[in-house]
Amino acid sequence: MKTLAVEIQKGGEGKTFVVCNLAFDAYERGLRTVVIDLDTQANASLTLSAYRSGYTAWRIFGGKANSARKWFAEHEHDGLALIEADNDLVNLEKMRFPEAARKLGEVIQSLGEFFDLCLIDTPPFFGVAMTAAALAADYVVSPVRLEPYSIQGMQRMVTVIANLRQIKHVRWLGMIPNMVRLGTPRHDAHMDELKAAFPQHVLPVSIGWRDSIAEGLGNHLPVWEVRNEAGKRKSAARTASKEVRALADHIFKAMELT
Ligand SMILES: Nc1ncnc2c1ncn2[C@@H]1O[C@H](COP(=O)(O)OP(=O)(O)OP(=O)(O)O)[C@@H](O)[C@H]1O
Ligand SMILES: [Mg+2]
Repeated sequence: MKTLAVEIQKGGEGKTFVVCNLAFDAYERGLRTVVIDLDTQANASLTLSAYRSGYTAWRIFGGKANSARKWFAEHEHDGLALIEADNDLVNLEKMRFPEAARKLGEVIQSLGEFFDLCLIDTPPFFGVAMTAAALAADYVVSPVRLEPYSIQGMQRMVTVIANLRQIKHVRWLGMIPNMVRLGTPRHDAHMDELKAAFPQHVLPVSIGWRDSIAEGLGNHLPVWEVRNEAGKRKSAARTASKEVRALADHIFKAMELT
């Protein structure tokens, strides 16, 4: 099993969008996928609620070491399983991060028996959840908007990754420009700025500002399932779908899953 943590210490950049749509795409490809929601906002848990496994996120940290292995050995899933964020997960921020990373790492290792891919959604601040996920995952990726505060958040994220690399070699896949409005001078300028500042770290696939993405997340659907009133796929959703599929192709290839 390969594990990807989606992280940036800034809210509203598209972490949950990336996690949910990669999960839907992986599921369709036949990759057995588990999503761990480490954000007490529980947004991914809402969008993926149809796939609840019954095992909850705080148990990773507060339960017995082999409880996840036991749970998934006893409970069937049909290829996509959610470990949802529960209220007790708030206690995670009171733990020491090396212990949290160790416990998360142990559970991830035990899930390898049941899944091919593990995706981790994280909260928008630099804390125990973000740190533990980066240390326990094989890869990290960061969505970023082309806005000044987002770019500031990205710069701070780059520092966090550099610091974590003193503990473990975190494999950072880079940043996914999200909610991009190319052709608007501000976004064009910020895209150039981002590429100049981090030439190796801007992914060659970006996601435009697409209403159908927000609509899909709200309706618990991948973007390619978003329809108009007549039940037809919207053309805007088709464009968004192509972008999301290209993102999934790129990321799964980088993770050597395809
Ligand atoms: N490409 C996009 N186009 C339009 N809307 C988007 C796009 N990506 C995400 N959104 C919407 O923007 C909002 C923020 O996205 P999302 O919840 O994925 O960000 P996040 O980084 O997980 O936020 P938080 O840090 O609060 O968890 C959501 O309402 C989502 O539906
Ligand atoms: Mg989120």
